Amino acid sequence: MNEQDCVITSAPGKMIVLGEHSVVYGKPAVALAIDRRFYCRVQKSQDFIVNGHRAIAGSHPHIRSIIHDNKVGNISVNAVTDIPASSGLGSSAALSSSISLAIRKLFNKEIDEEEIARDAFNAEWFAQGRASPIDTSTCTHGKGIAINNPEGMGRPLWEINKGENTWKVTDIDVPKMTFVVGYTGIHAPTGPIVEKVRKFKERNGFASDIIDEIGLITLLGMNAIRRGDKEDLGDIMTRNHKLLSILGVSCNELNKLVNAVLPHSFGAKLTGSGGGGSMIALTDEPDAVCEAIRLHGGIPMVVHTETEGVRVEETAPRTGAFPLPL
Ligand code: MEV
Repeated sequence: MNEQDCVITSAPGKMIVLGEHSVVYGKPAVALAIDRRFYCRVQKSQDFIVNGHRAIAGSHPHIRSIIHDNKVGNISVNAVTDIPASSGLGSSAALSSSISLAIRKLFNKEIDEEEIARDAFNAEWFAQGRASPIDTSTCTHGKGIAINNPEGMGRPLWEINKGENTWKVTDIDVPKMTFVVGYTGIHAPTGPIVEKVRKFKERNGFASDIIDEIGLITLLGMNAIRRGDKEDLGDIMTRNHKLLSILGVSCNELNKLVNAVLPHSFGAKLTGSGGGGSMIALTDEPDAVCEAIRLHGGIPMVVHTETEGVRVEETAPRTGAFPLPL
């Protein structure tokens, strides 16, 4: 097989620091790429094959969307990752970004970061029913991403419009800070939780107030990030968690982990869609936070940020730690 016949790509996972759910309605949000990656080895193929098995009808919507948008033939994908599936850490966005880059390379299409971010966003929209570009832009570009942040903060990357929403995506500098992720082990796919919030918002004006308030405190949090003020950022993260709980997207396991880490943290909150999945803590005591997470039934992961976005790889790891989001 020559090198044109097979491409290996990878993209990082992400954690949302502030603004999940409200960002779906065009409010601001901040996310960071994390040092866990999704690897895809992609080849042209007669049939649509995923990890050695022919894909059944309706499965793998992210990959199908990207094949369709790029108007290319079937592919065989071997995917490996250490990002837990449906954990709030961006496994499906990282899958989408890495598949888009691989398909573009394999079929000699334009390789452009913005176009990859658009492919990945469309794939999330198709698979979830509704989405914002926060996850897919972060997994594509890497490092730190802000959406609809105040003018003058960061470097504008691209703008995505869908329905009545406009998301201005910006690359931001984030001072070095230590975050610990606590994974509940509860598989929580994003689509149904996003839909639950949509229904709540439709039925109840009060939900729109919560979404507006999350937007407002996210702007305050962006200011704290700019100042490198961990106390202030942590406090805003915890307020964000309380608002997300009122919105109905937390659960007992997440609340238990958030409460357990607060004595050792500047602040803590669920990250991603909630309903299970993961929480994050901003801390200067990572060992104590990991221990608290472990003692309360979670799986701790100290994550490093400033991570590179989607890229071509020479090789991929042979096995991943978690099942795939496929
Ligand atoms: C999921 O990681 C983040 C949500 O805001 C959904 C989205 O933005 O697409 C819940």
